[in-house]
Amino acid sequence: MRVLSGIQPTGRFHWGNYFGAIQQYIDLQHEEKSYYFIANLHSLTTIHQPGELSELTLHAALDLLALGLDPTQAILFIQSDVPEVSELCWLLMTQTPMGLLERCVSYKDKVEKGISSNSGLFTYPVLMSADILAYDSDVVPVGQDQVQHIEVCRDIAGSFNHRYGEVFVLPKPKVLESSAKVPGTDGEKMSKSYGNTIEIFEEPGKLKKKIMRIATDSRPMEEPKDPEGDHLFQLFSLFANHQQKSEVAKIYQAGGFGYGEIKKRLLEASTDYFSDARKRRETLASDTHTVRQILADGAAKAREKAGEVLLRAQKACGVK
Ligand code: ADP
Ligand code: TRP
Repeated sequence: MRVLSGIQPTGRFHWGNYFGAIQQYIDLQHEEKSYYFIANLHSLTTIHQPGELSELTLHAALDLLALGLDPTQAILFIQSDVPEVSELCWLLMTQTPMGLLERCVSYKDKVEKGISSNSGLFTYPVLMSADILAYDSDVVPVGQDQVQHIEVCRDIAGSFNHRYGEVFVLPKPKVLESSAKVPGTDGEKMSKSYGNTIEIFEEPGKLKKKIMRIATDSRPMEEPKDPEGDHLFQLFSLFANHQQKSEVAKIYQAGGFGYGEIKKRLLEASTDYFSDARKRRETLASDTHTVRQILADGAAKAREKAGEVLLRAQKACGVK
């Protein structure tokens, strides 16, 4: 089985990205063959500062490696280092009906949010399809918001195969269990676009400030509270073991506590949780040469596979 996924370097990764995506990538890396890439070409549809994009791309690689992505298990690379994918994208573009892209909600959402539309933003699912099809991927772990794009990919691959013969493997989405569930500091879904994120490798002083500012309700302190619907409790639960969780749940149920106390526990638990990764990240950041080498090795392996699939597609449609 081949597993593939990509993540955009549009900002520093946050707790939502970790628990909603990155953690599962790491768990799945032991599958027969896994490919993970940093989708910088997709980010180019929204980030137009070159320095910012290249810096965020390196940060993304450092974060993924520090968090446990193991280059001896998975192939890690940067999307733009595999030009075969962009070439394949054009072949797919010629087989993609406009209506299929017009139905994609993520394009409409982005434009509604005020992102200026460009044709890259509109044809984004076709590049994503090329990303997936180029490696004969069987399974694509993604958040719920990306499932429609996998359907588009299956449609495009299906019509290409129908016209030119069996060229592409049809991939299946694997919806990540905890996706869309991590709340932000305001209680809404944690997301860069809402400005409510807590980054995985937040500087310690900033981390403390952000945690202390998590919004809480204004009911009287003495009142007993239900932990289940509370976003501070949900955040704490991400880092706590069973015993710590039930201890804190009891505090909520008894009432007579201040949220500051729970926030302190969240600060401790989250700091402990990422402390090994933070150390690994420091080591990696002081040796970016090694990191770039890992990415170059990953790209070489990825290109080998993507080249093979591209040639298959080129021959099938008569350009080779
Ligand atoms: P953002 O919403 O901050 O822009 P992305 O859309 O780039 O994040 O998300 C990258 C991955 O992280 C996706 O697989 C997405 O499902 C996951 N993810 C993002 N935010 C959350 C969240 N709050 N809870 C769970 N998963 C999330
Ligand atoms: N569109 C995905 C996201 O924003 C990132 C991505 C690009 C991707 N290409 C992909 C994910 C291929 C899975 C497979 O999260």
